[in-house]
Amino acid sequence: SLLPPQIITGKARLAGVLGWPVAHSRSPVLHNYWLRQYGVDGAYVPLPADPESFVAAVLGLQAAGFRGANVTIPHKEAAYKLADVLDETAKRAGAVNTLVFREDGKILGLSTDGGGFVASLEAASLPPQPRTRALLLGAGGAARSVAAALQDKGMQVSITNRTQERAEALAEALPGADVVPWSVWEQQLGDFTLLVNTTSLGMEGGPDPLFCPSLAQATPQLVVADIVYVPRVTPLLASAQKHGLRTVGGLGMLLHQARLGFREWFGVDPQVDDATQEYVLNSF
Ligand code: ATR
Repeated sequence: SLLPPQIITGKARLAGVLGWPVAHSRSPVLHNYWLRQYGVDGAYVPLPADPESFVAAVLGLQAAGFRGANVTIPHKEAAYKLADVLDETAKRAGAVNTLVFREDGKILGLSTDGGGFVASLEAASLPPQPRTRALLLGAGGAARSVAAALQDKGMQVSITNRTQERAEALAEALPGADVVPWSVWEQQLGDFTLLVNTTSLGMEGGPDPLFCPSLAQATPQLVVADIVYVPRVTPLLASAQKHGLRTVGGLGMLLHQARLGFREWFGVDPQVDDATQEYVLNSF
């Protein structure tokens, strides 16, 4: 490749991703690609920490001079509780996926997942349409941050989830959101301009890699998005394409959510372009 070699001197800026497990994370490949592309003296490493060790791990990274870290499953709520200062999105999402160790010693918590998702729609020239309805499959942490970001763009958000109580709890935490029963969402698809799968359904190695609901009721306006990015074209997206619908895969969200953290830690706003997508994809 034409990428210059990585520079890691005694002054290197350091960041990483805290998760348990963390071996599947694509974030190290992505951030180190950008570090090389922009000639930044720095490194980004996987940081496996179990839930009992999470707080000690964060304080240890801070003590060792790290700039910050990404936080992934299962630590996003613990990171929310631990942060000294939260941005507005993190407050609404109730979760933190990016920690920044500020020079004043305070730990800043950001939620960049939802904003990254919206940025990936915008990059695909399919921005959320204000005052129209989005249907989210799932009611976990990812659903919560995506829902908050879509509401910020003026969309009316509906949640559907296998476990109805979780959908209701999420709708309650997000004023204006409502719930569609899991058993009937396919029939109600005609009411929506955006469908987002925020569950692990359709993911390779997940609970149901063949997940492919009926899209028969969709109107031609429907945009179908998936936050799953392995495989890049999930059965849901393949089916949507067969119906002539426009689709957005999950890789863009991964890249766009990473951008904000990179900017905070390494002082460069990195490009999310085709070459970046290609490089990350080829690392699978
Ligand atoms: P995350 O924080 O990444 O969103 P999570 O909180 O574990 O992860 O949420 C996973 C989502 O996938 C949930 O909405 C879950 O539905 P339940 O709340 O009913 O558990 C959904 N999910 C996982 N496996 C599923 C399956 N086999 N069928 C339907 N939904 C499933």
